[in-house]
Amino acid sequence: MDPKAVKSDLVLILDYGSQYTHLITRRIRSLNIFSLCISGTSSLETITSHNPKVVILSGGPHSVHTVDSPTFPSGFVEWAQKGGIFVLGVCYGLQLIVQRLGGQVDVGQKQEYGRMEIEVEKNLGVFGNKKVGDKQVVWMSHGDEAVKLPYGFEVVARSQQGAVAAVQNSEMRFFGLQYHPEVTHSPEGMDTLRYFLFDVCGVSPGWNMENVLDEEIKAINDTVGPEEHVICALSGGVDSTVAATIVHKAIGDRLHCIFVDNGLLRYKERERVTETFESDLHLSVTCVDASNEFLSKLKGVVDPEMKRKIIGKEFISIFDAFAHNLEQKLGKKPAYLVQGTLYPDVIESCPPPGSGRTHSRTIKSHHNVGGLPKDMKLKLIEPLKLLFKDEVRQLGRILNVPDAFLKRHPFPGPGLAVRVLGDVTEGNALDILRQVDEIFIQSIKDAGLYDLIWQAFAVFLPVRSVGVQGDQRTHSHVVALRAVTSQDGMTADWYYFEHKFLDDVARKICNSVRGVNRVVQDITSKPPSTIEWE
Ligand code: XMP
Repeated sequence: MDPKAVKSDLVLILDYGSQYTHLITRRIRSLNIFSLCISGTSSLETITSHNPKVVILSGGPHSVHTVDSPTFPSGFVEWAQKGGIFVLGVCYGLQLIVQRLGGQVDVGQKQEYGRMEIEVEKNLGVFGNKKVGDKQVVWMSHGDEAVKLPYGFEVVARSQQGAVAAVQNSEMRFFGLQYHPEVTHSPEGMDTLRYFLFDVCGVSPGWNMENVLDEEIKAINDTVGPEEHVICALSGGVDSTVAATIVHKAIGDRLHCIFVDNGLLRYKERERVTETFESDLHLSVTCVDASNEFLSKLKGVVDPEMKRKIIGKEFISIFDAFAHNLEQKLGKKPAYLVQGTLYPDVIESCPPPGSGRTHSRTIKSHHNVGGLPKDMKLKLIEPLKLLFKDEVRQLGRILNVPDAFLKRHPFPGPGLAVRVLGDVTEGNALDILRQVDEIFIQSIKDAGLYDLIWQAFAVFLPVRSVGVQGDQRTHSHVVALRAVTSQDGMTADWYYFEHKFLDDVARKICNSVRGVNRVVQDITSKPPSTIEWE
């Protein structure tokens, strides 16, 4: 969808690398205002081409005193003045404004980290809904401090230590908050943002998933036209399902989906997923059982990267065959491919110094099962490219994707291959894992914990240990249970189950799954571990 088609004023975030930048974007969208996030060092041309009503300069781990610290382009201030744009600096963003407009920022005079009380000194603009003397708790995170303001700026709030907490120059429409209004540790932060955007800047909203859906359908129709055909590989996950459902709504049966059973799926996964596709979503899906092909190629392979490569390659050859068959049937090549790319995958940011990352797109390469053959020459349709995961779920609800499906835990592309350590074809590792996983997940659901956990699964360990079952000595397998809480999978904590729950699950597994005599739980966070074991 073309961002210009969105019926809402735009708040553009210039990202200077704060861990909260995406959160500001999401919070603003939750006010039904369209918000995009681009690199803090974007050119003036890029910034102006978005035609924003408000620009927010984000926080970041840099100091304005460091050589090469990221900043907005020259001409930015003049452009904002001329165009009637409102500018809000948050944390590092405030310091950038102060420094670039002729004030002074000192290093480490009053370092403030964590919860802090601030007091409103003037109820101009940004605090116009508060009284002078009103106090509130906010989340601070800064080492540098604004000590002299540029001409025309006023302090509108200070911290209990006397540090500048908020500034503004009403005439210029420039504002700054030294704290992070977007985090929940600043309980009145959303109130301030709402007041600022609606009452001070006069932003008109219009960002909601109903509008997005309408625009998206229009855009897909315009792109694809009345004749062309489109293909889509469904993984059974939320993103590809919602993406396919939108395209289907736009072009109907000219969308052709494929679902590959690679032999590495969960218990009854194929049946469950195809049932949803067919009965609930009315998508036409070609279901290919390629388990023999995948498993024979994986025989004897223990290296996890090798497994991923083999799976990726095999997937592509099946996809290729699907496209060719379709070409025969239709008498013409499908022209487009649907992908469920999300907004966080395309955001460019200014990563922290020393992180080794440049201003590049964040792509989780090891999570992709491989690209598609270049000679296919398919053009991409990415209907979710502007959306965050929670927005994709909202869209899914409008499209009648069942809630149980939308709330499913993520499942890796290479499937159970990264949950069976070692050779996946040895013995009946996959079968054992499927049964154990099913018991674990069902128990989590029965206990009402499924939605509290970000991802839960079982892992098959390629070792045997001694046990005793009945009067028999056994020499059977060990399985591990893993459950984590997380925001986005980048970091994670392990989930604390009650002992009684773990005891019940372990008992159930050992009593009903042949070949398992020991159950352990993974109690490592990420980092240092990853979520999946391989
Ligand atoms: P890790 O294990 O890297 O996982 O901490 C973070 C999230 O990504 C999923 N994951 C994968 N997804 N192919 C995928 O499509 C993979 O190879 C892969 N490895 C991990 C994992 O399940 C978790 O949700």
